[in-house]
Amino acid sequence: MNKGIFITVDGIDGAGKTTQVRLLSDKFRSLNRRFLIIREPGTTHLSERIRKILLDPKCNIIPEAEMLLYLTCRIQLLQEVIMPKIRQGYIIISDRYMSSTLCYQGAGLGLGTQRIKKIWSLITNHKGADLNIILDIPAKYALKRTNRNDRISKRTVKYFNVVAECFRQLCTTNPVQYVLIDATKPSDEVFKCIWSRIAKLI
Ligand SMILES: Nc1ncnc2c1ncn2[C@@H]1O[C@H](COP(=O)(O)OP(=O)(O)OP(=O)(O)O)[C@@H](O)[C@H]1O
Ligand SMILES: [Mg+2]
Repeated sequence: MNKGIFITVDGIDGAGKTTQVRLLSDKFRSLNRRFLIIREPGTTHLSERIRKILLDPKCNIIPEAEMLLYLTCRIQLLQEVIMPKIRQGYIIISDRYMSSTLCYQGAGLGLGTQRIKKIWSLITNHKGADLNIILDIPAKYALKRTNRNDRISKRTVKYFNVVAECFRQLCTTNPVQYVLIDATKPSDEVFKCIWSRIAKLI
C-alpha cells in the first residue's frame, strides 16, 4: 500500500487554489492514485454548516470567534476524514488549511500567528501537512480574478496584502514543509511548478 500523503493549497482569495486543486485531481486520477479532495472550511457535515455562517455577510463575528470557528471546522475534518484516510494510504489535497487561519486571522485580523498555533496545539498534537503549497500573488491582481462577495472576500486590498505577506513569511520560516509558487503565471505554468515539487514526495 502507498503511504498516505497530506498536501495543502493556500493563498489569498482568487490566487487560483481551486483551479490548481482540480488540476491535481486530474493528474492523480490519470496516475490511478487513490486520492481525496477536501476543502476548508468544510467537507464534513458540521464544517460545511459552519462555513455558511463564516461566509455570511449578514453575520457579525468578532475576530476571536471567527478564528475559533475555523479551528472547530478543522479539528472535525482532521479527526473525521484526514487522519483515517491517511491511514488508508490516500493522498489528501486540501483546498486551504492551517496557513489560511494563521494569515487571515493571525496576521490580517491581528490575533497573532503564535497565539493561534498555541491554541491549536492544545486541541491536537497532529503535526500538520506533509507539504504546504502557497500560491503567491499581489492582492490587486488576485481580487480582480474573483467575483465572490462573501463576508471574508469583502475585506480591503490592504487586508489581503497583509495576509499575502504572512503567507510569504511562512514559506521563508519553514522552507522544508512550505513551497511558495508564483501564481501570477498562467495556470498550466503554475501547475508545472506545483507538480515538480509534489513529484518528489509521491
Ligand atoms: N493562473 C491563473 N491565471 C489567470 N486566471 C486564473 C489563474 N488561476 C485561476 N484563474 C481564474 O481566476 C478565478 C479564481 O480562481 P480560483 O477559483 O481557482 O481561485 P481561488 O484561490 O480558489 O479563489 P477563492 O479563494 O475565492 O476560492 C477563476 O475564474 C479562475 O479561472
Ligand atoms: Mg476556491
